[in-house]
Amino acid sequence: MTAAPSAWLNALPKVELHLHLEGSLEPELMFTLAKRNGLSLPYDSVEALRSAYQFGSLQDFLDLYYQGAEVLRTEADFHDLTMAYLQRCHAQNVMHVEPFFDPQTHTDRGIAFPVIINGICSGLTEGFERYGISSHLILCFLRHLDEAVAFETLAQAEPYLDRLVAVGLDSSEHGHPPEKFSRVFAKAREMGLRTVAHAGEEGPPEYIWTAIKDLQVSRVDHGVQATEDESLLAYLAETQIPLTVCPLSNTRLCVYDRMQDHPILRLLDQGLCVTVNSDDPAYFGGYMTENFQALADALKMTAEQAIALSDHAITASFACEQRKHQMRERLNAVSLPTST
Ligand code: HPA
Ligand code: ZN
Repeated sequence: MTAAPSAWLNALPKVELHLHLEGSLEPELMFTLAKRNGLSLPYDSVEALRSAYQFGSLQDFLDLYYQGAEVLRTEADFHDLTMAYLQRCHAQNVMHVEPFFDPQTHTDRGIAFPVIINGICSGLTEGFERYGISSHLILCFLRHLDEAVAFETLAQAEPYLDRLVAVGLDSSEHGHPPEKFSRVFAKAREMGLRTVAHAGEEGPPEYIWTAIKDLQVSRVDHGVQATEDESLLAYLAETQIPLTVCPLSNTRLCVYDRMQDHPILRLLDQGLCVTVNSDDPAYFGGYMTENFQALADALKMTAEQAIALSDHAITASFACEQRKHQMRERLNAVSLPTST
């Protein structure tokens, strides 16, 4: 069977469930916002900035990611960031998105919580009106910070609960297991929010277990280290707890040396609910289509597998049943590519 071709992959209706809005900040927009806010960047040009994007680990990346986010100051900045992402989604036939944002990255710099959430939400509203892209927003806590400040952030979010679907957990994984935030996540669940968490990106399978058991997540973000634990693989296959997998992120952060080593299609064939996502597309070399394309190129992903991955993302989303039905109808209408 031949691998799915790129124009077909771009046209494939898609859903994105693992995307950090701050990680969609392209160098061009970073320079524009720096200028608009009277800031200078420690790079001479967009090219110089892009060429700094060489990472040996998650932490290497996070250092640049937090530095880049410093240009985000006003409601208009957060709006423009969100709209730039949704424009890319529209061009790649992404129907529905559930982006993350990291309020602490901004409130720690003195940006008020309402500035951040109002800017993002006005972007999401405009994206729906203009492109028909539906969305639900997820607030992530930075796991390298302590529990007390996560509670403070949750309190700041309380007036905006109607704009949030879930809380998540991101940033440096090693040494910061999910259970560090058990009480914060319990409180978030009491407030009616769902939960997701990054686990098993670089960290061990135990972190995936505790994300599931202690934080009671609806989905695991990344989760690829489950391959190191047979009983966890069986559990994920049985429960169908989804994994939001990010192939280009995993190779750019050296979780796998080569895309040929990536386990996503093996996990798909073993019956796990795996999905494809872009994570931080401005830093990792591509959005949704490029991630699917990388799997077609390196792993000979077939059109049927691409459709199955997209179908899993619809199932794994927090969209209402009616919206899921609409999205499935679009996916079911896709015809297979003629062989090349
Ligand atoms: N992992 C953990 N934290 C993050 C990431 C990631 O890939 N991107 C932005 N914050
Ligand atoms: Zn992520």
